[in-house]
Amino acid sequence: MNFKKTILCIGAGYVGGPTMAMIAYKCPQYKVTVVDINPERIARWNSDDLPIYEPGLDEIVKTVRGRNLFFNTDIEKGIKESEIIFVSVNTPTKTYGTGAGMAADLQYWEKTARQIRESAESHKIVVEKSTLPVKTALAMERILTSMNNGIRFDVLSNPEFLAEGSAVKDLEDPDRILIGSRETPEGLKARDELVKIYANWVSEERIITSNIWSSELSKLVSNAFLAQRISSINSISALCEKTDADITEVSRAVGMDSRVGNKFLNAGIGFGGSCFKKDILNLVYICRFQGLDEMADYWEGVVKINDYQKERFILNMLSAMFNTLAGKRICLFGFAFKANTGDTRESPAILIAGRLVEEKADLIITDPQALKNAMTALSDINGQINYVEDPYDAAAGCDAIAVMTEWDMYAGLDFEKIYKSMTKPAFIFDGRNILDHEKLFEIGFNVYPIGKPALTHF
Ligand code: UDX
Ligand code: ADP
Repeated sequence: MNFKKTILCIGAGYVGGPTMAMIAYKCPQYKVTVVDINPERIARWNSDDLPIYEPGLDEIVKTVRGRNLFFNTDIEKGIKESEIIFVSVNTPTKTYGTGAGMAADLQYWEKTARQIRESAESHKIVVEKSTLPVKTALAMERILTSMNNGIRFDVLSNPEFLAEGSAVKDLEDPDRILIGSRETPEGLKARDELVKIYANWVSEERIITSNIWSSELSKLVSNAFLAQRISSINSISALCEKTDADITEVSRAVGMDSRVGNKFLNAGIGFGGSCFKKDILNLVYICRFQGLDEMADYWEGVVKINDYQKERFILNMLSAMFNTLAGKRICLFGFAFKANTGDTRESPAILIAGRLVEEKADLIITDPQALKNAMTALSDINGQINYVEDPYDAAAGCDAIAVMTEWDMYAGLDFEKIYKSMTKPAFIFDGRNILDHEKLFEIGFNVYPIGKPALTHF
């Protein structure tokens, strides 16, 4: 079949895979190829066992794979054949050298830029999809044009705002699509090409354009604002626990002000995921680099409160369970950083599990999607850790359950049955406030929610 456009995406991860599947699904007239340096990952994209769990994604991939969506490892061929290249390789926080622990590690991204330069034989529109520090596009342009071989590259910034667990819905019905470009005639022409792709299914008023630096910065700032809301409500949850106020009641009252809005005000054990912490630290690093220390301190506070919330959860467990966890069996309900994903990157459960092992507790971890990733995430930790799929089996014989992830299924479990199978006194620490606390208390549990008075039988 003759396709109208050939699109390549470099990086078949949580962003590249679902985003390209959606473009292929909505635009059968385009050929979309996704390449990655990791052959195992590509093999899984070509199998029935996709490398990521996202509700609704399997169906879409099944419809388009082999039709106009292709996964392979031939990056060079992909670059040669495509007109538009999305780059969605990983940009983790640097772990070495200057900026370690703060700045973005751009090594994968830079390798990709060089590879595009070396393999390209004709004009390419290169689209930054990965979250990158502001002004990265400039570096990309410099690398791409440094061979002086007459090939034209136009770099666009088109940050992805999808959230894991709702990626398909977010891609199908996005709040906005942001496209940043150079404001030169060529830059604007490239931008229009990308607008045309999204206009296949997104209404034009939701496709916004800006200069390239605003686009790069908007992505960092969007994540920083979202994370800031979570740290704000979590900081108040600590105060609620000291004052008998109830965080759910406070967030409802605050969120009903339409200027504030009611989303993203659920207190819990803190935010996780591959983006929030990384992007805020990135913002902090840029601010410090620009000499804006007050601003850097302000945003760094968001991460500090997030760390404090996790530590507070552990200290609450310790104090509730008579100041010792040694030899106690503790069951973690959930390990993914949020519900409806198997992703455990930066999951608060990682730190909490590590701290519980330090306190010499025995851990039993259950999660409907994330057990494999949990094992990898905890592979460096020496301690008693068991992974059990069935939550009833996981909780049996335990002293405490700690809810780490807000999976819907946990609220529907038979807690009478669970209570009977546990060691007494039995404790529940609801790190996501998803359970019916009164009912659990009536069953016999000692219940410790976040930001609400504990319900105890002592
Ligand atoms: C986030 C942004 O939402 C998305 O726009 C961006 O593209 C990538 O980063 P993601 O990390 O996938 O998406 O998930 P998100 O739903 O934002 O949740 C992040 C973390 O915050 C999770 O650990 C979640 O449990 C936590 N959270 C969220 C809360 O603790 N309380 C809330 O009210 C909302
Ligand atoms: P994200 O959550 O941003 O999508 P992931 O880590 O899930 O990040 O995915 C990034 C993908 O990019 C990984 O599958 C990784 O193998 C791939 N990758 C990294 N560097 C390169 C490269 N130079 N060429 C092709 N793929 C790459």
